[in-house]
Amino acid sequence: MNQEPVPIERLNFFLEKLELDDRAQERLAPWRQIFLEHSEEFGREFCGYFLGIARTKQIIEQGEYLPNLEKVLGSWFHALFKEEFSAGFLNYLWNSGVRHVRLNLDQRFVNLGYAMARQFCHRLVSQEIPVEEQEAVIEVVDRMLDFCVLVATDSFITTTFRCDRRMIEGIAHQVRNPITIIGGSIRRLQKKTEPGSPAYIAYEMVLKENERLERMMGDISMYTGLFQEEPLAKVCDLGEFLALAHRWVVQRGLMEDMAWQPELAPGYDKVYCDPQDLEAMLCYLLENAAEAADQQDPLLEVATGPDPDGHRVKLTIRNNGNTPEPMHMDDILSPFHSSKPMGTGLGLPIVFLAARRNLGRLSLDPRPGGGAVCRLSLPAPPVE
Ligand code: HEM
Repeated sequence: MNQEPVPIERLNFFLEKLELDDRAQERLAPWRQIFLEHSEEFGREFCGYFLGIARTKQIIEQGEYLPNLEKVLGSWFHALFKEEFSAGFLNYLWNSGVRHVRLNLDQRFVNLGYAMARQFCHRLVSQEIPVEEQEAVIEVVDRMLDFCVLVATDSFITTTFRCDRRMIEGIAHQVRNPITIIGGSIRRLQKKTEPGSPAYIAYEMVLKENERLERMMGDISMYTGLFQEEPLAKVCDLGEFLALAHRWVVQRGLMEDMAWQPELAPGYDKVYCDPQDLEAMLCYLLENAAEAADQQDPLLEVATGPDPDGHRVKLTIRNNGNTPEPMHMDDILSPFHSSKPMGTGLGLPIVFLAARRNLGRLSLDPRPGGGAVCRLSLPAPPVE
């Protein structure tokens, strides 16, 4: 398992927000030695505690981690009070989260460990520190442990998600090659058959399914890509992005003969959103609306306007044709649910996910007279 770089900047941000600065360290300084002297005791108590829980006992005993685990936890406790959150300590803390994921240790047990550590520290404070100083020391120690819980949780989420993402990306990558080979071979075979013959039609069907698979792989990459980095919001011009999305949909053989006249209301033509996410949302929304529209007499209207909550811009896309049933909304937004024979089932889930990570909202309702009304609300640009 390759390792994700430790997000030192983010960890320093947590430190700053918890005000674990020089002042906090100074407040702790006179009492530091008391904690350091109890490191080994902490290691022993910690292991005793978790040997009392069936699942963690199994992990500890099967891996033959005793007595090393006592030392590991004792060293962690020592470093917590010795190292003042140096870069080395942050790395070490982060990597303990990675180690726990590899051990298949449920994060709730780790959190329980931190609750136990907190009780241990509070007990030390009440036994060893003068009463008038106790509150101030406990206040700093609590923030230190809160920080460790944050780092451990962050590390756990990042590492577990990274495993899932690697798996999905690996599958998509492995499937892409056979798809290309199958497509090429079938095309060659098809050329040897008479257009309109049963064999030609059968090859045509295989090619279409193959294309669907190819699109699905592209959509899967887009879907997993949405988890990779934090969205970076910028002021985006909706007119420009809609034009881009329109070109993309036309390239996919849709909307060629449809009227295209987006109506951008004055003052509602910009949003505050990650540009890549916005492009993906508009491409998939237009593609979806165009595919579902009545193929004989297609209608696709796009307009912007205010959102009732006042801080967002609402983009409305209306089409005719198939009407989604309200009770199917959850299905429509779940991956791989598609009512269209050639759909990948990822278009709307991608939009939904991208909207959510940009603090937007997505809804889909039946349009009176047939078709659907899709509303995407995104944050308005900040007022200068
Ligand atoms: C306060 C919560 C916890 C902290 C601060 C903590 C800290 C650590 C650290 C610093 C390491 C060493 C990482 C490395 O050097 O790669 C580690 C490893 C380990 N932890 Fe935890 N841990 C916690 C909770 C738990 C719990 C609840 C268990 C329960 C079984 C556990 C089991 C282990 C095991 C088995 C190892 C590997 C030890 C070895 O390789 O010898 N930890 N932990």
